Amino acid sequence: MPLIIALAHQKGGVGKTTLAANLHSWFGEAGYACALVDADPQGSLSHLLAAFGNREDVALIRRGDFQTYDELAKLLEPFDVAVIDTPPYLSRELVDVLSIAHAAIVPCKASPLDVLAARQTMEYIEEIRRTRNPALASAVVLTMVIAATEFTGQIRQHLQASGLKVLRAQIGNRVSYARSLLKGNSVKAEDGGKAWAEIDALGLEIVAFLKERTS
Ligand SMILES: Nc1ncnc2c1ncn2[C@@H]1O[C@H](COP(=O)(O)OP(=O)(O)OP(=O)(O)O)[C@@H](O)[C@H]1O
Ligand SMILES: [Mg+2]
Repeated sequence: MPLIIALAHQKGGVGKTTLAANLHSWFGEAGYACALVDADPQGSLSHLLAAFGNREDVALIRRGDFQTYDELAKLLEPFDVAVIDTPPYLSRELVDVLSIAHAAIVPCKASPLDVLAARQTMEYIEEIRRTRNPALASAVVLTMVIAATEFTGQIRQHLQASGLKVLRAQIGNRVSYARSLLKGNSVKAEDGGKAWAEIDALGLEIVAFLKERTS
């Protein structure tokens, strides 16, 4: 059974798809056999990859490739890790994904309304952990962070004060994230490696967090 990591947030446009694609690349670079699962009925990842020349190094599993999440779990058996992109609303789909996941990573922009929504999503995840999947770990990752503002630190403290796990790694607001998706690539070759260093820190921290949870 692979390690299953879901990107989840009830709001749209917070960077779920961007982080799913980049984390998939990061796990591949780190030597893991990693599947990328597009569980979003919008099919963003599937459309992007199709538009930019279906990359052979991306093991993409589309929503149409499985009927049930038991079937998905079977498809994932040959992999070490699976990264799942999910839709931007609370739904049966999300419950099913989180019921088989080991980690839910919730991207959150440093803005008050996004914080409220991230807190609600984390409560929803906690309810699924309590009732269906005791092994489910969850954490917030701050994303689209504007450099050199104290505000991000305040948002971080606010989330932590509500008892939420906030990862140390954070993702900057960089055009390279959008540009790389446009090419169907990760950010590895963009930005002189600055954005990839953020993904590297995030990947390492997720692995360490999950090890700590299971040891
Ligand atoms: N770190 C970032 N810096 C700058 N732009 C970003 C960053 N992450 C994502 N974006 C851009 O923000 C937009 C939304 O990102 P993305 O599609 O990944 O969000 P999403 O949460 O998957 O949205 P949806 O819920 O609608 O599927 C895209 O245009 C993307 O290129
Ligand atoms: Mg998306």
